[in-house]
Amino acid sequence: MGQVYRNTEMTRRLEGSRTYISGGASGIGRACAERLAAAGSSIAIMDLPASREASGETVDSLERRGSVAISVDVDVTDPGQVSAGVARATEAIGPPDFVITAAGVATAPSHDHTVSLLETEAEHWSFVMDVNVSGSLNLIRETTSSMMDRSASGSVVTLSSVAALNPTRGVYSISKAAVWMMTRILARELAPCGIRVNSIAPGLIDTPMLPTTRGGEDLETWATRQTARIPLGRLGSPFDVASAALFLVSEDSSYITGSMIRPDGGLTMGSA
Ligand SMILES: NC(=O)c1ccc[n+]([C@@H]2O[C@H](COP(=O)([O-])OP(=O)(O)OC[C@H]3O[C@@H](n4cnc5c(N)ncnc54)[C@H](O)[C@@H]3O)[C@@H](O)[C@H]2O)c1
Repeated sequence: MGQVYRNTEMTRRLEGSRTYISGGASGIGRACAERLAAAGSSIAIMDLPASREASGETVDSLERRGSVAISVDVDVTDPGQVSAGVARATEAIGPPDFVITAAGVATAPSHDHTVSLLETEAEHWSFVMDVNVSGSLNLIRETTSSMMDRSASGSVVTLSSVAALNPTRGVYSISKAAVWMMTRILARELAPCGIRVNSIAPGLIDTPMLPTTRGGEDLETWATRQTARIPLGRLGSPFDVASAALFLVSEDSSYITGSMIRPDGGLTMGSA
């Protein structure tokens, strides 16, 4: 990752808050954990048992910088695990003020990228929809119920994608379009409770997920070809996305709900 959040005037602005982040062991979720922790929020990372070592490394690195952090094994597709995970995190660091649903998958491991939507196996459809859509809703349901029980205001940030806006990525595009619509429905439902819900739709971000979508193409050729499509001339970093998340949980966005921010280097402007 190689990029560390530098102190600016934003430092410690989230002091005393707690942020729950799914998928915080890697990529965008991890960068959000680092960025919000640097701003003073205590962090609960929820990720798969298979990512326990990476979750632990994230927690260690936050603690070394003086932040409060915990990781909890949770498969977000299982409502029981989500409920138990939120209860454990609440006991350890206190109840959630902010939630970032960064856990996501691009594809089932065995999926062939060249097949059309009509040829897509049921197993691939369920895998992607379960994690990206149901998994996000499971965590939002559990955490916002805690906010409502306490009559606390809060902010929820979902991870959609530019793929939600372009019909190019099969089931993944459908799942991210569903996340975007879910964001807007929840923003309406939760506004009377003072809970804001917004989405980030990143472009091509340099994380372990990105190259999994390149099919058989050589990594360097693929990266050069992708970068050429981006008006700002580079892939995004996970910290570019974490900056948007910091804005969306902070008071600076207090009048924004049901919105989408696109850290995509201009990708979705299209070409002339
Ligand atoms: N990288 C990109 O270019 C890009 C672009 C647009 C949107 N996104 C979205 O951003 C989010 C984060 O992606 P990333 O690039 O950081 O990917 P990543 O693969 O680096 O991280 C995803 C994390 O989610 C976790 N996860 C997967 N399934 C889970 C489950 N069932 N329960 C709990 N945790 C689970 C993984 O263990 C991993 O730690 C995803 O929702 C992705 O769709 C990524």
